[in-house]
Amino acid sequence: MVEQPILVIGAEGQLARALARLQTAAGHPIACRGRPEADINDADALRALLAATAPAAVVNAAAYTAVDAAETSEPAAHALNAHGPAQLARLCSARGIPFVHVSTDYVFDGSARTPYRETDAIAPLGVYGASKAAGEAAIRESCPHHLILRTSWLYDGEGRNFLTTMLRLGAEREALSIVADQRGAPTWTEDLAAAIAAMLENVLTDGATDAWGTYHATGSGETTWHGFAAEIFRIAAASGQPTPKLTAITTAEYPTPAARPAYSVLDNAKLAQTFGIRLPEWQDSLARCMARRLAKTQTA
Ligand SMILES: NC(=O)c1ccc[n+]([C@@H]2O[C@H](COP(=O)([O-])OP(=O)(O)OC[C@H]3O[C@@H](n4cnc5c(N)ncnc54)[C@H](OP(=O)(O)O)[C@@H]3O)[C@@H](O)[C@H]2O)c1
Repeated sequence: MVEQPILVIGAEGQLARALARLQTAAGHPIACRGRPEADINDADALRALLAATAPAAVVNAAAYTAVDAAETSEPAAHALNAHGPAQLARLCSARGIPFVHVSTDYVFDGSARTPYRETDAIAPLGVYGASKAAGEAAIRESCPHHLILRTSWLYDGEGRNFLTTMLRLGAEREALSIVADQRGAPTWTEDLAAAIAAMLENVLTDGATDAWGTYHATGSGETTWHGFAAEIFRIAAASGQPTPKLTAITTAEYPTPAARPAYSVLDNAKLAQTFGIRLPEWQDSLARCMARRLAKTQTA
């Protein structure tokens, strides 16, 4: 084991926790750090942290992810999603440290009907997407050795996300109305963490130094939020968990402060061609995630 760690910023987030579970990447230990020692908006703290840990690579898993709240908190969203990552990228670049950053399908406006490629024009519909797009642009400008992974519909068996919300609501209510006219790809944090580790293996160990750039990295396949919920409760029913009646509704029937893209399926071909990485079918990952969650609750 090499001593220089892979430093993950944003320790308590769902992706950071999945990276922490891996323990190592490319032969390096994974070290997750949160606030205050790793406040992405505190340049002095970040400088001190980089000096103390001398990481082999930095992964930014910190973000402002409250899509609706961002509409009325634009400065906070930009501080966390654009200025902070830009600052961290500059610090990494000055020290020759590769920088991995995670972005979102919400940089697109959803007007496409075939999966978005990395080269397609972005046009975010809301403040969250715009702040993430600004973060991407700043990183590209300031840190040549970057990997930006755009992912979508991230979930895990713990924390706050669509899966855990559905299971909680399913236990509380007899019926749920779920939006059925937004299409995307659910992505398990575990799969994204494994993809990041494999990409780091390529660039740090195998010397794939021409691979820097932007990649789409989501679960394989696609569905709607209603389809995602239906699969959650199909799996839940098999283990005797509560299953509410699901009603498919339109986005117009479920107004939210932030507009969401109607279609945000991402084409993952570049990830497969460059790194040989393909995330599993979203239904397979969901089944494994829920089985692990169930096993945990049964042993708790
Ligand atoms: N969630 C999704 O559906 C989704 C979809 C597409 C893309 N993404 C992207 O995927 C990445 C990971 O998302 P996630 O769902 O894992 O996020 P998350 O669970 O919301 O975690 C974000 C983390 O950022 C931390 N943070 C907040 N302010 C910070 C600061 N000033 N300095 C350092 N850390 C700070 C938070 O810490 P505290 O707990 O202390 O507040 C939290 O641990 C993000 O870049 C996100 O934009 C997410």
